[in-house]
Amino acid sequence: MITLKTKKIILGVSGGIAAYKSCYLVRELVKLGAEVRVVLTPSACEFISPLTFSTLSRNEVIVNIFPEKKVNTKTSTWHIDLARWADLFVIAPATVNTIAKIKNGIADNALTTLVSARRCPLLIVPAADEDMYLSQSNQKNIADLKLQGVYFLETEYGELASGLTGFGRMAEVDLIVEKIKSIISNSHKDYLKKKILITSGPTYEPIDPVRFIGNRSSGKMGQALALAAFYRGADVTVITGPTHLSYPSQIKVIKVKTADEMLDAVKKQFPKCHIFISAAAVADYKPKKVSPSKLKKNKTKLTIELIENKDILKEISKSKKRNQIVVGFSVETENEISNSKEKLIKKKLDLIVINNPLREGAGFEVDTNQIYILRKDGTLKQFPKKFKIDVANDILNEIKNLNE
Ligand code: CTP
Repeated sequence: MITLKTKKIILGVSGGIAAYKSCYLVRELVKLGAEVRVVLTPSACEFISPLTFSTLSRNEVIVNIFPEKKVNTKTSTWHIDLARWADLFVIAPATVNTIAKIKNGIADNALTTLVSARRCPLLIVPAADEDMYLSQSNQKNIADLKLQGVYFLETEYGELASGLTGFGRMAEVDLIVEKIKSIISNSHKDYLKKKILITSGPTYEPIDPVRFIGNRSSGKMGQALALAAFYRGADVTVITGPTHLSYPSQIKVIKVKTADEMLDAVKKQFPKCHIFISAAAVADYKPKKVSPSKLKKNKTKLTIELIENKDILKEISKSKKRNQIVVGFSVETENEISNSKEKLIKKKLDLIVINNPLREGAGFEVDTNQIYILRKDGTLKQFPKKFKIDVANDILNEIKNLNE
């Protein structure tokens, strides 16, 4: 059973009638052993008194960015201290307004200021009237935040405060608690002081100034690994090919386009890292010649000669020091295990993550993955279909177990 003992949770409450349910949420979390600090927006105070949350959480409640009492320099950085203290940040209810502010990085009250300074996973539990919830701008904000790796517990269908029935009801407390447990089970800071280098996304190999050869990688697996490692305390650098994803500012992101650029960047970063995870879908081939001008449609047949790209992992493994760990991915649609074993040996890997994009719920462009992990000592583990962030945590757990 997952316990919340010793877990530190910030609960942000914004101004909606569902704020009354958050009182039960605090009570439940405290009962399960969590330490809860509540932050209210000024509008939330219109619905529920800070005293209620303070009594239930047995802690002081934060409403103002600037505390009323005269402060010394130490306490004036409370938002940084608290943001670093937390294992998880939950906002329930999150109004359309608060979601929009977070999406745009606005930090104009205590809650949004803390969100911008956080170093832990963020779970947003929205609540609104149906039209507001389903509005194009709110749905776009939610979609954008999901691309940043923010967790959401979507609203339920049911009776709303307006008397209407529809989507917009905040998820029930027991569901929120279950979601918190699943996120927090991997929130220990066991990667503190570890430097992790991750490659992610596709590479684009140019044909001419407007065309390229690419692949379907979305970069979501690499992003999930970067976020999971960051939340577990690691110092993370990501070298990413072109994607639509974004990262928290504390993660160093190096953007590249081609396999050659990725190789150069990895060569520079690798000596500084303890662990290298190669999650990128690097193009195996590139056009031999890149046309300086757009190719014209003046022939009935076009042949593009391709030459092999360097294998980044293989190159890098040559300079691997004894205390460094190198992890590869293997995309296979047949003979997954035997082919991957060959790659593990050829590329001198400590561990290889195997997936088959043809399997339901695995592969590119989806939010889930289903993997095997093969270690260099021959141990093979199969994992069930999971969200990519959970797959990322499984991979980090296996890396940690390598020396056992
Ligand atoms: N990789 C790499 N450089 C390349 C190609 C692949 O570093 N030029 C890395 C990938 O990031 C991955 C691993 O090698 O971690 C295996 O990639 P995969 O595409 O599964 O296999 P390949 O070695 O490219 O072989 P094949 O495409 O024939 O299966």
